[in-house]
Amino acid sequence: MKIKNICCIGAGYVGGPTMAVVAQKCPHIKVTIVDINESRIAAWNDEDLSKLPVFEPGLDEVVKEARGRNLFFSTDVDKAIDEADMIFISVNTPTKTYGKGKGMAADLKYIELCARQIAKISKSNKIVVEKSTLPVRTASAIKNILEHTGNGVQFQILSNPEFLAEGTAIEDLLSPDRVLIGGDNTIEGQKAIQALVDIYANWVPKERILTTNLWSSELSKLTANAFLAQRVSSINAMSELCEKSGADINEVAKAIGMDGRIGSKFLKASVGFGGSCFQKDILNLVYIAKTYGLKEVADYWEQVILMNEHQKKRFSDNIVNTLYNTVSGKKITFFGWAFKKDTNDTRESAAIQVADNLLSEQANILVYDPKVIEERIYADLDYLNSRTSEENRDLLKIKTNPYEASKNSHAIAILTEWDEFKTYDWVKIYNHMNKPAFIFDGRGILDMEELKKIGFVCYKIGSGSK
Ligand code: NAD
Ligand code: UDX
Repeated sequence: MKIKNICCIGAGYVGGPTMAVVAQKCPHIKVTIVDINESRIAAWNDEDLSKLPVFEPGLDEVVKEARGRNLFFSTDVDKAIDEADMIFISVNTPTKTYGKGKGMAADLKYIELCARQIAKISKSNKIVVEKSTLPVRTASAIKNILEHTGNGVQFQILSNPEFLAEGTAIEDLLSPDRVLIGGDNTIEGQKAIQALVDIYANWVPKERILTTNLWSSELSKLTANAFLAQRVSSINAMSELCEKSGADINEVAKAIGMDGRIGSKFLKASVGFGGSCFQKDILNLVYIAKTYGLKEVADYWEQVILMNEHQKKRFSDNIVNTLYNTVSGKKITFFGWAFKKDTNDTRESAAIQVADNLLSEQANILVYDPKVIEERIYADLDYLNSRTSEENRDLLKIKTNPYEASKNSHAIAILTEWDEFKTYDWVKIYNHMNKPAFIFDGRGILDMEELKKIGFVCYKIGSGSK
């Protein structure tokens, strides 16, 4: 079966970049990305590529090449479903905020809505691909909805989880470590798998395209995120021990990373992991384990989250303790708000929790982030409901220039590892700060020895105060 027309439902951080790359690499396939969010679609269609709703290095070039040729962004969901041979579901699957499984289970209402809409609109056979991250066995629920339309249309369900990381999405999509495709072990199921393999084979070497059954594919995605997050929590746990014992976490990470069995990637101590995936997916995994009655499995993975909460809290506590046990009325500058560098995404960013803790201590915060817009930062804080939105706007100000953001400040906290922070004129910054001038490097990116020479009092995650 040759796919000629693809529809992707959900034009977010995954749907947008993923399908843009599919369109770039498969000019013979028409790819339409649809979303109910009109302003998001308008931004994807903006002539000015700097206005794309997702910031990812290299994404603008890919969109420029394919948009209008075989890549289209639209709000007409029904039309795109009707025309497609293959439909990717790439909508959000956030943690449930209500009812059974509140605070843990994945909220599948958007997935179910998509399945119902596909069932209602489809007049010809289709392959439906789960691109969103889903709990194991979700495909059977989707199948159930699709199979009860009574109109004779046949659907094949595939699981094709996305492993891209934000900030490196285009690189990850162009040369993925692997592409995972799960499907039914029937003749029709295998044909559907082959149709998707053929698409990826346009640019991904065949040996990197892995096919499995549906449940292995769904569960592998949750497992991969759990393992990655576990590494960050493990190194962060050791960072606290380093600070107490005089060891240095970067030296420890290097020493253990040289062991081929451990490997050197993902061993960077930080103020805590953020992003839309790690916490959500582990909570979901914990919930699934609990529903199967696997208490020890659930407790084991939950600890990864608890350690991460502790790391964020310990970072803000340390700022308060170091600033003579009070930050009330003091100015603290945040360099960075995004959950990692090279993205404008702030979901679950450690900066949000650290800011909330410091605002509760009546600090005044000034934020500078090269890519995150003002509305996003205030929306992140307002969402917590810790104080009124007027109080948030009163206590926290956003600056578009790092030097302005640090003027008369008592302390600088590094929350995101943006490369540009390393290039600043730190003497200039020191000179216009309140003295003693403190730096709290929650990303371990600055040269503490150099900063100390300038006069800063420095704290670096995993090596303590100097
Ligand atoms: P997102 O919130 O950025 O985008 C989801 C989009 O889906 C939104 O624009 C929303 O308006 C749209 N949508 C929701 N319901 C819809 C409907 N019924 N019809 C049309 N559009 C609808 O989310 P995201 O970060 O792209 O994540 C999507 C999925 O991919 C999630 O399951 C996530 O866990 C998974 N994932 C995310 C990443 C990542 O780095 N962000 C990586 C791998 C996997
Ligand atoms: C993650 C997975 O890496 C990706 O495969 C999956 O598809 C989606 O979830 P993402 O959340 O975009 O990707 O970024 P990632 O690079 O994994 O970073 C997640 C968080 O962990 C960030 O806050 C990052 O700063 C932090 N991190 C990562 C560390 O603190 N230390 C590290 O060594 C690595």
